[in-house]
Amino acid sequence: MSIPVSNSISKSDPEIRTVRIAIDGPSASGKSTVARRVAGKLGYVYVDSGSLYRGVVWLALKEGVDPSDEDKISDMLAEIEVKFFLVDNAVCFSVNGDKPVAELRSVAVNGSVSLVAAMSEVRDMVVGWLRSMVRFGNLVIEGRDIGTVVFPDAEHKFYLDASPEERARRRSVEMLGDEDSAEVRRSLERRDTIDSTREIAPLAVAGDAVVIDSTSMSIDETVTMILAGIETC
Ligand code: CDP
Repeated sequence: MSIPVSNSISKSDPEIRTVRIAIDGPSASGKSTVARRVAGKLGYVYVDSGSLYRGVVWLALKEGVDPSDEDKISDMLAEIEVKFFLVDNAVCFSVNGDKPVAELRSVAVNGSVSLVAAMSEVRDMVVGWLRSMVRFGNLVIEGRDIGTVVFPDAEHKFYLDASPEERARRRSVEMLGDEDSAEVRRSLERRDTIDSTREIAPLAVAGDAVVIDSTSMSIDETVTMILAGIETC
């Protein structure tokens, strides 16, 4: 089922109290799978914030806009039309009428997303979109700056980590071995470096987040730990 919602950004109704569970962490730490399952168990809406940064890059590449040209990206954003809707309790979007999904994870998008996500106008726009998602109800939202910038007052915050070796291994498995694993690791390291050293909203652990090192944990164990953490708060 697909429920359309307008993209206008309005203040959330103070009468409507939503629960926001923030799950931040570096690439391939297991955030997406874990966040999706936690949302499923709780009946909450799942939000993949990275998909929005990827959507901006995907559109730029499609329209022949150089992703490293901040002025051109800003011009493109001034004309962008984004609509959000739910599919199986996950937030999806259309951008200028297209609904990219698999395309968001192409090698070309991977190569430019961290560069574009470091641009202040891009971040302002995406953060506004993300905050507006409380209109969908209770959220499990994953990313890099959810607990620090997007929802610093989130009811629950987790920071999911894993060793670089394990993250590269997981990403290679996810890509069905299509990519050279050394190249996968280099690409993750490049993005980790840009994401954690950028000036605006760098990847960082929120002071009040529960840190989980999932290096030797299964997805189920991680989900159980998060659900237990939520219950005890
Ligand atoms: O799936 P993966 O962990 O590799 O990446 P993603 O969550 O899809 O995010 C792609 C990129 O978007 C990240 O490498 C960051 O540069 C950026 N991002 C961000 O800056 N802030 C977020 N809240 C989410 C993603």
